Amino acid sequence: MRHGGKRLGLVPTMGALHEGHLSLVRAAKRACEVVAASIFVNPTQFGPNEDLAKYPRNFERDCELLEKEKVELLFAPTVEEMYPKGVVTWVTVEGLSERLDGRSRPGHFRGVATVVAKLFDIVRPDAAFFGRKDAAQVAVIQKMVRDLNFGVEIVACPIVRERDGLALSSRNVYLDAAQREQALALHRSLTRVRKMWETGEKNATRLIAAGRDEIGREGTVRLDYFEIVDAENLDAVTSAERGTLVAVAGFVGMTRLIDNVVLGESQ
Ligand code: PAJ
Repeated sequence: MRHGGKRLGLVPTMGALHEGHLSLVRAAKRACEVVAASIFVNPTQFGPNEDLAKYPRNFERDCELLEKEKVELLFAPTVEEMYPKGVVTWVTVEGLSERLDGRSRPGHFRGVATVVAKLFDIVRPDAAFFGRKDAAQVAVIQKMVRDLNFGVEIVACPIVRERDGLALSSRNVYLDAAQREQALALHRSLTRVRKMWETGEKNATRLIAAGRDEIGREGTVRLDYFEIVDAENLDAVTSAERGTLVAVAGFVGMTRLIDNVVLGESQ
């Protein structure tokens, strides 16, 4: 297909597909003549005490969903294929990898950058589609592509949410009904900060305090971080401007959830 000059889009995923993933597939279908998806639960991006073993897997259903979306190609390698014994080469995006999720999940972005670099080399897409739900991941991958001259266009797509605001995530299946309610605090904290910013508050310290307060009101959610940063280099800002990233992560029970908004953007 590539030899025929067709534009190839890639949607990398870890499976357990939901409407968030499918929105990326649809964006790829609109922009590319041929779309490939990958499903690979990448062990190197999970920490030793994280949920690799229990991460939701539903390969048959995922295949059906991708077929329904008319995805032409699926790459679903085994762990042994991606990481044969003796692999010692890693991609590290220094600095960025220690920000936001990278700070609480050491090694996470090294695993992400390495597997995405491998997927790009194997599939060789013209464009690859990522969700803004993982805002730090988008920043890390964009930097990697620039630094290593990958020549893949990175397309960042909007966050897909439930009606009540909860960002779709494969990990939402871990939540029971009570936790599902508690998880809404993340979106509430972002909405409160966005509204404050829209009505004129630009001071990052005060905005962060309001966001943290909103999480604190939902006593059961354990805050990991609430940060206001430059969306590209993930550096903390003192004044929040249009395009600034407001990002939150917290534990609901054992489940770690993340969410964010970009100030001045519709969602
Ligand atoms: P995974 O968590 O399966 O997500 C695959 C892609 O779907 C990512 O780009 C993610 O940002 C996007 N996504 C997830 N939830 C979304 C939502 N609610 N709205 C919009 N997009 C959403 O992210 C990964 O896998 C992995 O780190 C990967 C990039 C595949 C590398 O292993």
